[in-house]
Amino acid sequence: QGNSARILQLTLAVIKPDAIAHPVIFKAVHEKILLNKFLIVRSKELSWRREDSQNFYREHSGRFFYQRLVEFMSSGPMRAYILAHEDAIQLWRSLMGPTKVYRARNTEPESIRGMYGLTDTRNTTHGSDSLESANREITFFFPEFCVSHWYQQDEPHFR
Ligand code: PPS
Repeated sequence: QGNSARILQLTLAVIKPDAIAHPVIFKAVHEKILLNKFLIVRSKELSWRREDSQNFYREHSGRFFYQRLVEFMSSGPMRAYILAHEDAIQLWRSLMGPTKVYRARNTEPESIRGMYGLTDTRNTTHGSDSLESANREITFFFPEFCVSHWYQQDEPHFR
């Protein structure tokens, strides 16, 4: 009662190996998720094989940083989340801050990457950048989770 209904959107968020390696940073990022009142729909720790990493980032396969990115993302455990919130995709991206760490530090020093990012590759977190990529990435990380089924259910949409 008193809570107005709101329509929730799903996004895929990942805490990358550089942050998992440092429990204090992992905890700070996890707390940001809670503080911003995301609903954690699913969460798991996992590690990628090299092939998983290549597959996930295949759209970047021609870029100069591709090998580095693939190596790094299969170098250790990470934590993936399916998060729900009103405008979840945009909200999580704005909390992360810019991809490039020099920009994050200079323009958004309070953002996750601004505070904890080490390099453009070791930049603490990932977040889907569109509805289409959120659906694809959720399925990539959580193959058993049915996005369209979740959106069809009434209850989780409103709180
Ligand atoms: S870009 O520059 O707009 O294409 O960047 P973006 O599409 O947001 O994400 C690129 C992902 O590759 C990782 N990465 C780098 N990006 C840019 N420059 C360098 N040098 C680099 N090295 C790695 C970057 O962290 C993005 O990873 P994700 O996991 O998608 O955030």
